[in-house]
Amino acid sequence: MQPARSIDAESLAAFYSRVRNYTEQLCEPLEIEDYVPQPVVDVSPPKWNIAHTTWFFEEMILKQFVPGYKVFDPDFSYLFNSYYNTVGKRTARDHRGSLSRPTVKRVFEYRKYVDEQMLAILSSGSSGSPPYQGGVAESRGGSLDDGGSTSDVVVYAANYSEPPRQQKALTPLLGKEGSKINDLIILGLNHEQQHQELFLTDLKYTFGLNPTFPVYREGYFPELTAESGTRTFIEIKGGDYEIGHAGDGFCFDNELSRHTVRLDDFQIASKLVTNLDFLKFVNDGGYRDHRLWHSEGWDWVNQHGIDAPLHWHRLHESENVSIAERTQGTAANDPDALWYQFTLGGLQKLKLDAPVCHVSYYEAAAFAEWKGMRLPTEFEWEAASSKFDRGLRWEWTNSAYLPYPGFKKPDGAVGEYNGKFMINQMVLRGASVATPQGHSRPTYRNFFHPHLRWQFTGIRLAR
Ligand SMILES: [Fe+2]
Repeated sequence: MQPARSIDAESLAAFYSRVRNYTEQLCEPLEIEDYVPQPVVDVSPPKWNIAHTTWFFEEMILKQFVPGYKVFDPDFSYLFNSYYNTVGKRTARDHRGSLSRPTVKRVFEYRKYVDEQMLAILSSGSSGSPPYQGGVAESRGGSLDDGGSTSDVVVYAANYSEPPRQQKALTPLLGKEGSKINDLIILGLNHEQQHQELFLTDLKYTFGLNPTFPVYREGYFPELTAESGTRTFIEIKGGDYEIGHAGDGFCFDNELSRHTVRLDDFQIASKLVTNLDFLKFVNDGGYRDHRLWHSEGWDWVNQHGIDAPLHWHRLHESENVSIAERTQGTAANDPDALWYQFTLGGLQKLKLDAPVCHVSYYEAAAFAEWKGMRLPTEFEWEAASSKFDRGLRWEWTNSAYLPYPGFKKPDGAVGEYNGKFMINQMVLRGASVATPQGHSRPTYRNFFHPHLRWQFTGIRLAR
């Protein structure tokens, strides 16, 4: 991975178009039937994801700030609301896959309509839209090109600069509310980027349940990207560390406020746990040893028959493995069978040097226990984050998802964005190969319930 570098400033209108276009680029390999299924409640269908991100702009910006705005379809406020009680009632989360109507065609028309309205706002200033600047960069391999100009995919942290007062952007149409609207547009674009990652992980989950193991994109295996070099442990000195987002760039509300955390000396791994590392845990009976597991984790393993990471399959080496073998696991106990992993590019032999993927917090913690180590806290992770490469996996931490001291929910519907989820979830740090370019940063706090593993999650050890 490459050292940090800055990128040229990008106008907000260009940022808007880049993000919105990338969503449609993600849709390109889909067949019409792929847009609708929702096999479990956590997974949303592609059609819902691409409509809901559009809903955000219509509901939070166009309906609120554009006088006389005519909604595209009054039913969509209900259909594509995710969890905003401030906005109103909505489709039950587990019924998103029941919506065969509106059609995919109509949802793309919705996107086009909202884009035209949004771009009209963004181009309403005579001096153009305000600058959206890239900041610190980090690179990672194995991602789709989402509009970057280099072959090496670059992740850069957003650093939005508010326009100078004399700039006319937004003011002709939106008056004094311009700054607020700018912030909401940037939030809406970061929201869409979160759903771009969900688009891939949700689709992979749905495809992964299909015994034909469909290929999302031929030759696209971001999960197989490996880190180079050998793993060492990095020494971090104890002391006071400033944790949380600093500066004027964009961050989510849950990254605030910056505060001091006292840490003891610790060591953190320079590389992620690999598939080979995790396979040794499997072969050593890690899933059958209750001493390694939290009580909840042990119940989860037993109730669901968990014996490997999600998307791992034990199959006979053959070009024509039968559907019966795929669906019934008949090779599971055959020593001649091989481990495979399902990827966005289809079924592949388990790549031993790639970081393990699709593990729950329970599995991450049990693996660390087996190694006689532990997971880092989110504070340790952030304090050490400049010392290692990141971006291949969302890394489970040993920290519960709680508000920082000084955390405040923003006013209005977006106050529901993060704060109400700060209960019973664990923090993940970093970014994954499915995270869009420029979306994450070292202070970024992702969070999931401890049993979930359909995201591109992995493990970094500490001691
Ligand atoms: Fe959302």
